[in-house]
Amino acid sequence: MYVVMYSIAAKCPGKGARVRPHMYKAAVILVSPAVHMHIPGRHRSAWWPGREGRGRLHGNEVNETRTHLPQEPNSFVGRERELTELCELLGVTRALTLCGPGGIGKTRLALRVLHTVSAEFPDRGCFVDLGDLGQPDLVVSQVASAMGVGEEPGRPLLDTLADAVASRRLLLVLDNCEHLIDACAAVCQRLLAASPGLSLIATSREPLRVAAETVWQVPPLSVGPAELDGAEDASRYEAIRLFADRAAASLPGFAIGPANVRAVVSLCRALDGMPLAIELAAARVRALSVE
Ligand SMILES: Nc1ncnc2c1ncn2[C@@H]1O[C@H](COP(=O)(O)OP(=O)(O)O)[C@@H](O)[C@H]1O
Ligand SMILES: [Mg+2]
Repeated sequence: MYVVMYSIAAKCPGKGARVRPHMYKAAVILVSPAVHMHIPGRHRSAWWPGREGRGRLHGNEVNETRTHLPQEPNSFVGRERELTELCELLGVTRALTLCGPGGIGKTRLALRVLHTVSAEFPDRGCFVDLGDLGQPDLVVSQVASAMGVGEEPGRPLLDTLADAVASRRLLLVLDNCEHLIDACAAVCQRLLAASPGLSLIATSREPLRVAAETVWQVPPLSVGPAELDGAEDASRYEAIRLFADRAAASLPGFAIGPANVRAVVSLCRALDGMPLAIELAAARVRALSVE
């Protein structure tokens, strides 16, 4: 069992959150000597599994696993570099855990990755939200039901699910694993062992600690330096763009300009580029001013 830790959220003073590309590359090389690059989009790299290798169906397999790709609730801001890295990572790891505190943007990023790369998987992708699930023993049934796999009489559902995914080439996202971490780890371990064509993304506040897991820390949005005072300059930073977008949704006509740019920049910095906190603050501009 080994876990590859990524330290992506290292902050460069005055430049907002910055990725350290050399660390990323070093870690990728640790995972696999044969690094295949994949740029988000529809270009199929040598790594991506094709239909041609798909195994035969056994008697107890379902013909199709259901795909489930929820639509995004509103505009997605920034994260281009993270998306590129995550899509490339899926070329070298089958168990990717997006880690970080609540509100940092794990779910949103996982959903974005799923939308970006699912077309590369012959059996597409499936998103399973475990957030509302109270009991660990319900994880299997939640995953099975999202994938359209039913219970077989007298047989553990995990066995049926493992058979159903065995010959599939798909991307499965398990969202909000932290409160059911052991159960999620057990299901992931079993499904990964059953299906060589399965890739998994988990979102969680802590790692799942499954074999060959790649743990990727989700960084905050970039905030820019304190002395920013041009609206155009400020809009280069993700946190400021998210604030402007959500504030305009709450108060039509809201825009960042010379009068409020300093206040918005210092608010986003005070909120550490945390997307949830920025959205909550932006929703209040209707009642309160930015200042
Ligand atoms: N890059 C982004 N662009 C737009 N909205 C974002 C982005 N990242 C996060 N958000 C929003 O911020 C809030 C928290 O993000 P979420 O992904 O739910 O965090 P987590 O899963 O880490 O708790 C959500 O409302 C989400 O839509
Ligand atoms: Mg989440």
